[in-house]
Amino acid sequence: MSKKVSGFSKLNKTQKIDWLLEHYFQENETFKEILLSYWNSNSKLQQLHDEFIENTISNFYLPFAIAPNFLINDKLFTIPMVIEESSVVAAASNAAKFWLDRGGFKAEVLSTTKNGQVHFNYFGDKEKLTAFFKTVKPRLIESVADFSKNMKKRGGGVLDIQLIDKTATLEGYYHIHCTFETADAMGANFINSCLEQFAKTFKEEALKFDGFSSSEKEIEVVMSILSNYVPECLVRAEVSCKIDSLTTPEFEGHYFAEKFVRAIQIAKAEPRRAVTHNKGIMNGLDAVVLATGNDFRAVEAGVHAFASRTGHYSSLTNAEIHGDTFRFWIEIPLAVGTVGGLTSLHPLVKVALAILQKPTAKELMQIMAVTGLAQNFAAVKSLITTGIQEGHMKMHLMNILNQLNANTVEKEKTIAYFQNTTISHSAVIAFIDSLRN
Ligand code: MEV
Repeated sequence: MSKKVSGFSKLNKTQKIDWLLEHYFQENETFKEILLSYWNSNSKLQQLHDEFIENTISNFYLPFAIAPNFLINDKLFTIPMVIEESSVVAAASNAAKFWLDRGGFKAEVLSTTKNGQVHFNYFGDKEKLTAFFKTVKPRLIESVADFSKNMKKRGGGVLDIQLIDKTATLEGYYHIHCTFETADAMGANFINSCLEQFAKTFKEEALKFDGFSSSEKEIEVVMSILSNYVPECLVRAEVSCKIDSLTTPEFEGHYFAEKFVRAIQIAKAEPRRAVTHNKGIMNGLDAVVLATGNDFRAVEAGVHAFASRTGHYSSLTNAEIHGDTFRFWIEIPLAVGTVGGLTSLHPLVKVALAILQKPTAKELMQIMAVTGLAQNFAAVKSLITTGIQEGHMKMHLMNILNQLNANTVEKEKTIAYFQNTTISHSAVIAFIDSLRN
């Protein structure tokens, strides 16, 4: 039977699921029941979620957790995290606690400039284009005055626009590089609206510019879009302490600090390690990005581009031993918001922002950078001491038990048994089998 369909978006949710039932579930009602079981009984709330995107058929849950004890610039935070990976929140909480006893995290926003480009083709005389841009620049800025009003009131707006010649890379390619301040908003809609208006005015004014020949007047705008590469929207987070105070019952401070710094040097030198190292940072950071309703794809794209800014993909974190002090820090580009978008729509995002005590965008940048740093600290600490599997499998044990449909008593007995025994998938199966027999 053909699975091609037209007018699909016009069907209601049940009809869409019935279409799946017929074409993909071989009339097996179980999958339909699963989808329906995730519908929220509060119909208003369900409708809100249905309307976020097109063709919604159900909701996809991720755990919403909190990691307490984050001391950031001498203020205590509990950090909301949305993530499915078993050990991430436990690791973040452990790192928070570790640094709580050693002065906490320091964070500062270094810059908040966002950017976008109007990309266009021009094959005429470059000097004429430069002269045209000089004349039209005030007119371009004026053309977005109306929709910049609200942003201006909040302390944002267009910062500058510049003509950039990219013809050395691609024949006939120029762009208008535009910079913005978007205050507490991530600002994607504002930036894209400004860029599209710049493009329109730019084309219109070119047609009227006497300095151009008739073919030069026909500037072709290819596209106008914000950039998710935001190296001028930068935040820094750091921890430091006396090396002696790194000593714990498990390891001696100097040995730990040196091995830790070496692990960071390896992540700086070797891209294969750097990718996994940075993935560990993003475990924590993305979890806060998701909880606070921000765009994790945008953050991911920008962060990894930043990690390769030298032409060599490298660690986002740094560590050093200076005299008797250990220092560990991150500098990372983050364009995020605490107003607009999902932040004012998703009830759980409102809860997350309340847990964070209604942060400004700058404060949220700091909190995210700290979470990334903490997560990286926890991962590298495990890697250079016990290895990650010990902690990971402890957290994963519950997933294995759920896969085996273990009941409460079986869970309790298994957890107790594996307190002092190495956890593996097969060992857990064997233990549950022994209980059941
Ligand atoms: C696992 O999700 C993340 C780690 O692999 C990060 C790292 O290796 O640094 C543990």
